Amino acid sequence: MHQVNLGMIGGGTVGSGVFHHLQQNGDLMAARLGVKLAFRKIAVKAFEEPRPYPITRSLMTTDWQEVVNDPQIHVVIELVGGTGIAKTMVLAALAQGKTVVTANKALISACGPELFAAAKKSGANLYFEASVCGGIPIIKSLREGFVANQFSAIYGIVNGTCNYILTRMKLEGADFGAVLADAQKHGYAETPPDLDIDGHDAQHKTGILASLAHGFWVDHHQIHTEGIRSVSKIDMQFAQQLGYTIKLLGIVKQSKVQSPKSKAGVQVSVYPALIPSAHVLASVNGVFNACFVRGDVVGDTLFYGRGAGKDATASAVLSDVADAALDLKNGGKARVQPFVAHAKAGRVVALDEIISQYYVRFDVVDKPGVLAKIAAIFGAAKIGISSVIQPEGHEGESVPLILMIHDAPNAAMRKALAKIAKLPVVKGKPVMFRVESLQ
Ligand code: NDP
Ligand code: HSE
Repeated sequence: MHQVNLGMIGGGTVGSGVFHHLQQNGDLMAARLGVKLAFRKIAVKAFEEPRPYPITRSLMTTDWQEVVNDPQIHVVIELVGGTGIAKTMVLAALAQGKTVVTANKALISACGPELFAAAKKSGANLYFEASVCGGIPIIKSLREGFVANQFSAIYGIVNGTCNYILTRMKLEGADFGAVLADAQKHGYAETPPDLDIDGHDAQHKTGILASLAHGFWVDHHQIHTEGIRSVSKIDMQFAQQLGYTIKLLGIVKQSKVQSPKSKAGVQVSVYPALIPSAHVLASVNGVFNACFVRGDVVGDTLFYGRGAGKDATASAVLSDVADAALDLKNGGKARVQPFVAHAKAGRVVALDEIISQYYVRFDVVDKPGVLAKIAAIFGAAKIGISSVIQPEGHEGESVPLILMIHDAPNAAMRKALAKIAKLPVVKGKPVMFRVESLQ
């Protein structure tokens, strides 16, 4: 049987998972692929680090260059992370003509075009299925399963850590910090976890999905990104009363823009949004991810699975290893390219131009005339209020006032909120979340 030799750099959460599951299911994979997969070397930073699964000591080295330079190794798996040394490792492996498999969304997002060009130059391939949505084969689906489709909308719960935190806050009333510590203990969170909490990890993943779906490389700096630090239990409760659930969403959709004169483009954003509790995405809980994809041919589809962790992520890495092995078995001819630019012109629409609906909570002084002052500012900005709630039973100097706002451009909303925040009757910073009907 044809044999493909593997080298891996990184043997932590994901790396040790990949090693373990290839030990467990390597024979099954070989039977399915007609190719035997064998590890030759695994580089780590320090031998004695604790690992979720043990790695055979005789395979280990602390010199990553031994992996990249070993002529017997055909496929290099990079599971170090980040855009520093990992980039050097990936470029070095590609320069040697080795196929690279990576789960590193930060690197693909920041340096995709440079890495794809390096792969093309050396005739090697680059696979990155595990970079988005952990174990869910979403990249394969967009590139292959949905090749006949144009995509009007993709809504993704793409960060396991944030979904785990939001779910436990909602269902258990759990404290943000304590749940984050749990997510770290399970190996879900990035280092540092701010990458998750502040939405950057979701930004990287959403950019990759947008690029594959729309055929132009989306620069991550163009992606409006908000994390989950602003989500509090009180807003979760009000959202629930209104029939909504708050989720951190990666959004890629044909944009609804301000005026017929605005140029068409794609909205690519990450923010916590209110989604209807009756929608299937609202039931995606814990570390699970989901990706709702609307194609013009296929219609609505939904992908669901674990978005992080040693096992689910290993499943995606091993699927790339299998594709790489089949390429090599077929004489090195890659069946799919890492990225094919196919859009004649593509544009990410600035958030200010996009029309959204909103949930807004103000802390206001409890006296007559307050709502009229706020409504006057919205009215002058041509922003319509669709409903108002002022719950009974709140004590203290200020009380919450919740408004649901009709379709309005983000720029107009931003300016109106800044004016309202200056009213003496409004205490503190207004809280605003967009509402996504997912229609
Ligand atoms: P870990 O921190 O658990 O593992 C990183 C590994 O890299 C460790 O084994 C470490 O060695 C090794 N390493 C660091 N520097 C070097 C170096 N200079 N030379 C050799 N080895 C080095 O990270 P994860 O496994 O969680 O993540 C790996 C990648 O997978 C990242 O890109 C991450 O974003 C991505 N990812 C992670 C997911 C998850 O759920 N954790 C899910 C999807 C993607 P040592 O063990 O000795 O410290
Ligand atoms: N930190 C990431 C998450 C890992 O929580 O989703 C998976 O990409």
